[in-house]
Amino acid sequence: MSTGLGTRGAGPREESFIDPVSGQKIVKMGDMEFPPRKVWMKTFGCQMNYHDSERILSHLSDLNFEHTEELDQADMVLFNTCAIRDLSNNKFYSQLGEMKHAKKKKNGLVVGVGGCVAQTEGKELVKKYKHLDFAFGTDVIDTINDMVFRVYAGDNKFSINSWDRSENFSIETKIAHGSPQAFVNIIKGCNKYCTYCIVPYTRGKERSRKLDEVVTDIKKLVEYQGIQEVTLLGQNVNSYGKENNESLAQLLMELEKINGLELVRYTTSHPYDVSDELIAVHGSAKKLSKHLHLPVQSGSATVLERMHREYTPEHFLGLLEKLRKANPEIVLSTDIIAGFVNETDEEHRDTLKLLDIAQFDFIYAYAYSLRAKTRAEKMEDLLKDEIRFERLREIQAHQLKIQDKIRQSMVGQSYRVLVEDFGTMGGTKKWKGRTNCNRIVHFKPLNEEMDYKWHWVDVLVNSATALSCQGELLVDHGRRLNTLNH
Ligand code: 5AD
Ligand code: SF4
Repeated sequence: MSTGLGTRGAGPREESFIDPVSGQKIVKMGDMEFPPRKVWMKTFGCQMNYHDSERILSHLSDLNFEHTEELDQADMVLFNTCAIRDLSNNKFYSQLGEMKHAKKKKNGLVVGVGGCVAQTEGKELVKKYKHLDFAFGTDVIDTINDMVFRVYAGDNKFSINSWDRSENFSIETKIAHGSPQAFVNIIKGCNKYCTYCIVPYTRGKERSRKLDEVVTDIKKLVEYQGIQEVTLLGQNVNSYGKENNESLAQLLMELEKINGLELVRYTTSHPYDVSDELIAVHGSAKKLSKHLHLPVQSGSATVLERMHREYTPEHFLGLLEKLRKANPEIVLSTDIIAGFVNETDEEHRDTLKLLDIAQFDFIYAYAYSLRAKTRAEKMEDLLKDEIRFERLREIQAHQLKIQDKIRQSMVGQSYRVLVEDFGTMGGTKKWKGRTNCNRIVHFKPLNEEMDYKWHWVDVLVNSATALSCQGELLVDHGRRLNTLNH
């Protein structure tokens, strides 16, 4: 069976023993011994990248690497990179540059770069940055231990960006944390080729895991690892299962049957592939989150055409109407790109109009950023960056007003929340959690010592603004719910 995400060859495997002299665990791979070491990792970009990082750390623990947050304690430093916009790209380059000094300070420090930038530019990176030992693309992360073995064997300065050619995309979810939330990758790659987007070049062609495999995987996570909330992940999850005559709607209905699984989310969607069957599931599935992130990118028919998005604003708004009819409580959010190639003022205003009609709960808005290799790169673009950023600010301010109003309707309502963490706000300790519909709610503990981490609680919202929502604790259900009452 393929291990997916880069098939691991028939090379040496990890075996461990306790060293009788030091009492330390030693991992042996081939004829090389790996003493306990520490890895520091910096992840940029989307949830898929964070999920991949977790998978990498989980593999590395088999090779005796412990994750550290302290850079100066690290024996190996890894970057998991994002290529989607300039901003995260630039941050990565400056941090990679700084590693030169870290490497001078610590003899034997290994530096590696993985992810989307490494997929397309790994070879150039290894050549250009003398202190970089190796680079690896998005489809080979399951072979990380073989690559690290190679580096410690003295064969460094390499870059691997091959695609996994196995027929099926088959993996088992690996989690390296103790939380009840897990990301589960169900489809990789993207066949859409939106003209601005680099993802099809960094993540390859779409391939889905089989439905049975995903269901068994999630059952195991629930049964053996205490997972209660899963987020199904993919660049375009709405295309899930096409090649196997399966669908996201079918998968969601199967997940309904898993006892102990409380909440299912999925991301990210493409409006083109939102089927009526899926919309109906949003009305009937009890475990499915009442939040859907559906990126529209622009409210202008002509911009959507230039973006090659394959839908019109009317079609998109029609989908929102159908979703709200199927589930009146559904909360919707979106992505917007401000100032796409040659966007006119009128086209920009169409986006503001769409925001008025759509009434999104929140949006992620970005200024268009030219990406090498995309089709938009070849379009002559007369729009100035200044205008892009001006429009971005206008979109954000416009949405905040809408959002402020929408969030007022939360006041006086109670929400069930899975508590994630705490922080201090204005000198007061507050816990925060996420509602089923993906809104963050803050609340004060009954007393300072109470630990609510990963508890399900009911919170009555008493104040809300566009960006923050405060409530008071009504009921603490503890770490497990007795009912499937959402
Ligand atoms: N420029 C700006 N934003 C982009 N996105 C994708 N590519 C670009 C780009 N070249 C945004 C889209 C997508 C989100 C993940 O990133 O809005 O939905
Ligand atoms: Fe990029 Fe479009 Fe694919 Fe989304 S659907 S990953 S925006 S190409």
